[in-house]
Amino acid sequence: MPTNSTFNILCLGDIVGHPGRAILQKKLGDIVTEFDIDFIVANIENSAAGFGFNSKLYNEFVLMNMDAFTSGNHVYSKREVMDKFSVFDRLVRPINFPDAHPGKGLRVFEKHGKRIAVINAIGRVFMPQLPHCPFEQMDVALNQLEADITILDFHAETTSEKQALGWYLNNRVTVMFGTHTHVQTSDARLLSKNTAYITDVGMCGAYDSVIGMDKDISVDKFITQLPARHQPVKQPNEYCIGALVTRVNLSNNSVSSVQSIHRVYNETD
Ligand SMILES: [Fe+2]
Ligand SMILES: [Fe+2]
Repeated sequence: MPTNSTFNILCLGDIVGHPGRAILQKKLGDIVTEFDIDFIVANIENSAAGFGFNSKLYNEFVLMNMDAFTSGNHVYSKREVMDKFSVFDRLVRPINFPDAHPGKGLRVFEKHGKRIAVINAIGRVFMPQLPHCPFEQMDVALNQLEADITILDFHAETTSEKQALGWYLNNRVTVMFGTHTHVQTSDARLLSKNTAYITDVGMCGAYDSVIGMDKDISVDKFITQLPARHQPVKQPNEYCIGALVTRVNLSNNSVSSVQSIHRVYNETD
């Protein structure tokens, strides 16, 4: 049970490959203790070698006491998960994907007496998918929703689309955290006393990298314009964890505070 007057939520940015999983195995417990965390949401769309997730990793994250998982454009990158979405009962995929796509966009969890809705949505600007309008889909979802706390991961490329959805949902969601760019923005704030916001929460993975991937491959690809397979950094010297901590008042579910976390660790930490 919460030990103080707030329910504390940790939102973790995209976990990128083995480096992201390894640093969370090592440091998540410390962060949970430091911030007295009650509920953990993590974006796992890049957890399997940078592209998608699989059953084994999903179960590993459950064992790390993560409560809910969000995703994005890479949610179906591993074909083996396609027919297993019914068992991934802590995961949401973008709610504005076509209805026929496997998985659900909204799930409601119960913890410490609170009903916590977790929703995933995906942007339409500079994204290869052609999803439904996230604004309209959020209206539909929220109109039918009964929850004490609502957490949205908006997986999108542009700052403007993220800020616009944040303002559109002001006072209607408890937390909106952006993902997908893998670089944390320094704009964690309250939009109103009922809504915490960050444009992008960043990622968990290799620090010396290009959005978690091997920087040499990425640089070479930009210069040569030849096809190359991106892969997470094999042996990182440093790791980072990008996250958002939101404290919600137990009495009335308003937001008491919000702060971003960006931690960098070396191998010996
Ligand atoms: Fe990602
Ligand atoms: Fe993404």
